[in-house]
Amino acid sequence: MDMMMLVQGAACCSNQWLAAVILSLCCLLPSCLPAGQSMDFPWPAVDNMVVRQGETAMLRCFLEEGASKGAWLNRSSIIFAGEDKWSVDPRVSITTSNKQEYSLRIQKVDVSDDGQYTCSVQTEHSPRTLHVHLTVHVSPKIYDISSDMTINEGTNVSLTCLATGKPEPSISWRHISPSAKKFGSGQYLDIYGITRDQAGDYECSAENDVSFPDVKKVKVTVNFAPTILEITPTGVSLGRTGLIRCETAAVPAPVFEWYKGEKKLTNGQRGIRIQNYNTRSILTVSNVTEEHFGNYTCVAVNKLGTSNASLPLNPPSTAQYGITGRAEILFSCWYLVLTLSSFTSIIYLKNAIIQ
Ligand SMILES: *[C@@H]1O[C@H](CO)[C@@H](O)[C@H](O)[C@H]1NC(C)=O
Ligand SMILES: *[C@@H]1O[C@H](CO)[C@@H](O)[C@H](O)[C@H]1NC(C)=O
Ligand SMILES: *[C@@H]1O[C@H](CO)[C@@H](O)[C@H](O)[C@H]1NC(C)=O
Ligand SMILES: *[C@@H]1O[C@H](CO)[C@@H](O)[C@H](O)[C@H]1NC(C)=O
Ligand SMILES: *[C@@H]1O[C@H](CO)[C@@H](O)[C@H](O)[C@H]1NC(C)=O
Repeated sequence: MDMMMLVQGAACCSNQWLAAVILSLCCLLPSCLPAGQSMDFPWPAVDNMVVRQGETAMLRCFLEEGASKGAWLNRSSIIFAGEDKWSVDPRVSITTSNKQEYSLRIQKVDVSDDGQYTCSVQTEHSPRTLHVHLTVHVSPKIYDISSDMTINEGTNVSLTCLATGKPEPSISWRHISPSAKKFGSGQYLDIYGITRDQAGDYECSAENDVSFPDVKKVKVTVNFAPTILEITPTGVSLGRTGLIRCETAAVPAPVFEWYKGEKKLTNGQRGIRIQNYNTRSILTVSNVTEEHFGNYTCVAVNKLGTSNASLPLNPPSTAQYGITGRAEILFSCWYLVLTLSSFTSIIYLKNAIIQ
């Protein structure tokens, strides 16, 4: 019905060429063809063309011997009718390297150009048409990814990675540090009850076979309360310098406190020096004297909790060996040792934390 009206409209304007174009357009619709009549194609009926977004597409069409004019159609709109440009798109032009050529050039193709194009050639007898299916491919591009996050151990985490591309890119996740574990694919990576081992960088990769994958990272920081891994003295002897090392695991890094018995120790106090390095604290006792012996406690605190461990520093039991020598000799033999009781207290602590 629409076609008939168009034809009448064209006829009233006495533009025969336009009428011919519209007729040929009409003939693209199978219902328009009289029963039993088939079209005669001088070219393959459908050409497929794949072009990457941003590139120039050249849709080839040639006017045959005897054909005077051609037209290019896009879906149901006319782009070119002969030399007349009907499209207002500045990216579109007709290329005629020789008299026969009537190719459509589309610069900087975009996904909206995707679809079927038809070259219609008016010959003396019948219209001939060539269909070209233009497929626009687009490189994968991640346009949305979760931002770096800090969460508490045990939390449910969902990481998001959204990407565009044509064909639709496939999305995969990898835990790149420290485990380099590969996860299943998908836009969302769900981690139930995240553990400290699952902290680190997660990499999202979006790929289709158009070009290189697009890759982006999310850093996941998992906070957990301190646990004291080890508390040890090293090479301590009386009159010399002694060290007590308190090693922890904690995120964020803990604040340390040291106690001797009930008394809090401070830096600079009677030969005591405290140095803190991220998850480790070192207590230095220079010129160890008798008054330094006793029970030392390392306390590690962060916003998720606190943990402590104690280390008694005792001289070797002189009574045990029945030695009753002079004080100076005894002093030179005394060592600050890690006793069995501190081991058991650490084991007790660890068990308490696990539970
Ligand atoms: C094809 O038609 C669509 C609308 O139907 C338009 O957006 C697009 O720009 C057209 N392509 C060309 C090359 O004219
Ligand atoms: C985490 O997800 C699991 C499974 O969906 C659910 O049973 C649990 O309650 C969630 N935990 C939290 C803290 O939301
Ligand atoms: C170590 O302490 C003792 C006793 O307080 C003192 O006599 C000695 O001079 C000190 N030695 C050093 C090197 O400070
Ligand atoms: C050392 O001190 C801690 C904390 O004050 C205490 O729990 C522990 O029993 C003490 N150990 C010894 C051997 O006195
Ligand atoms: C050490 O830990 C125990 C048990 O967790 C707690 O009762 C005690 O108060 C802690 N000591 C210090 C000095 O924080």
